[in-house]
Amino acid sequence: MELEELRKKISDDFNDMKLNLQTLSELRSQYLGKKGPINSLLSEMKNLPNEEKPKFGEKVNALRNLATKLFDEKKQELERKAVEEKLKKEAVDVTLPGKEMNTGSIHVLNKIVEEIEDLFIGMGYKVQDGVEVEKDLYNFQLLNIPENHPARAMQDTFYVDKERLLRTQTSAVQAHKMLESGGNKDIKIICPGRTYRRDDDDATHSHEFTQMEGLVVNKDVTMADLKGTLNIMAKRLFGEDREIRLRPSYFPFTEPSIEVDVSCFKCHGKGCALCKGTGWIEILGAGMVNNNVLRMCGYDPDVYQGFAFGVGIERIAMLKYGIDDIRTLYSNDLRQNKQFK
Ligand code: DAH
Repeated sequence: MELEELRKKISDDFNDMKLNLQTLSELRSQYLGKKGPINSLLSEMKNLPNEEKPKFGEKVNALRNLATKLFDEKKQELERKAVEEKLKKEAVDVTLPGKEMNTGSIHVLNKIVEEIEDLFIGMGYKVQDGVEVEKDLYNFQLLNIPENHPARAMQDTFYVDKERLLRTQTSAVQAHKMLESGGNKDIKIICPGRTYRRDDDDATHSHEFTQMEGLVVNKDVTMADLKGTLNIMAKRLFGEDREIRLRPSYFPFTEPSIEVDVSCFKCHGKGCALCKGTGWIEILGAGMVNNNVLRMCGYDPDVYQGFAFGVGIERIAMLKYGIDDIRTLYSNDLRQNKQFK
């Protein structure tokens, strides 16, 4: 019978394992669409005798409900399968080892600069930058090193032209800041930075190196303040039980000038290879700002005085971490940098 046949065909077709969402929706319009078999059965109803109509109508409706139900069920099933497959494909195995992230590390020279900066900022100092291509005026002349002064021989210089050079010392920043201050303001600064000298590179010399300058100018600062300040710095860098020793020295821009030693942190003063048996290790130069410098930079030496110091950062790094060749600090060897993470 026609109705029974159609019923069987609908059940078979909607239960086809090969259906996907696309073919399922085609199947739906095939059976339930305007021109589908169910609709045409309904339009045939008018040809039936009246008493058969209700029964026939009921049966066709049942067919329509069946097709709708089968479609809905199949659609749900297919959609659920699609989600399951997607989840399976995108699943993350949380037990797999993660990808290693490479993080950088601070260079030992920067580490020491930052350590000293921290200390001095805590004591009220400001950090000041200078320029690496500097005028002879600031690097030498204003620091009491006129042309042909023998002190120039100690600092073999890369000249850019007659006037300009690669600064040989961060002391050049002193002259800038004093002149900028107009001769009537207190100064309390540290100036870290790269410096250059025409040295032949070897284990203890590099044509490129790092210094940190310190400068305090006011009406009553004394050598005792300088000593106290350097004592604090030595302890911070090399350990709380370190002591310092001042030796008279000569720098054109300071008078009196001193060189500063720290008690040997390896043998604690008894004498060893590091301190060459003396118990002391030289770490920096310092002194009271020379009156000539104060005057040339706009300060009246009868009213103002100052102290200054300059420390070589490579030397501190080498001493502190037992590095025996300064060139390794400029080798960009990651194995070295990684040790300072
Ligand atoms: N500029 C000196 C140098 O490069 C270091 C130095 C010594 C700096 C004494 C100073 C100082 O400020 O007072 O060797």
